[in-house]
Amino acid sequence: MLYLGADHGGFELKESIKKYLDEKGIEYEDCGTYSADSVDYALIAKKTCDKIVAGEGNKGILCCGTGIGISMAANKVNGIRAACCSDYFSAKYTRLHNDANVLCMGGRVVGAGLALELVEVFLNTEFEGGRHRRRIDQLKDIENAQK
Ligand code: RB5
Repeated sequence: MLYLGADHGGFELKESIKKYLDEKGIEYEDCGTYSADSVDYALIAKKTCDKIVAGEGNKGILCCGTGIGISMAANKVNGIRAACCSDYFSAKYTRLHNDANVLCMGGRVVGAGLALELVEVFLNTEFEGGRHRRRIDQLKDIENAQK
């Protein structure tokens, strides 16, 4: 399942992404926020990421004003590999090499046109595995050492 989340800074971008996903017939769950009223990105990230890590193969898209705060919060959740992207190459390679399970974007940084290109490549690119798997395992080791 694909989970979406945004604070007020990313709310409009999230709505554009929902429209795109609806048109493509891609299923998703919207974890909020549900209006442009001010909310705290860490709380939205936690709510969304808890759902993402609950099931194998889940992914997420998170938006705030810059994409940065919400990506920082997301990466605090064990099992989340969130990448804040504003270019096509990064959105593609964070799937190929980092097996990112969350794409973060800034509603005040990227326009909807570019954001939808990033969403498309993020959702349609598979992890390459190989030597990159060892590096993902090293990320997991860091997480486990914190427990
Ligand atoms: C909210 O004004 C803004 O700080 C937030 O959306 C985000 O950009 C934080 O990183």
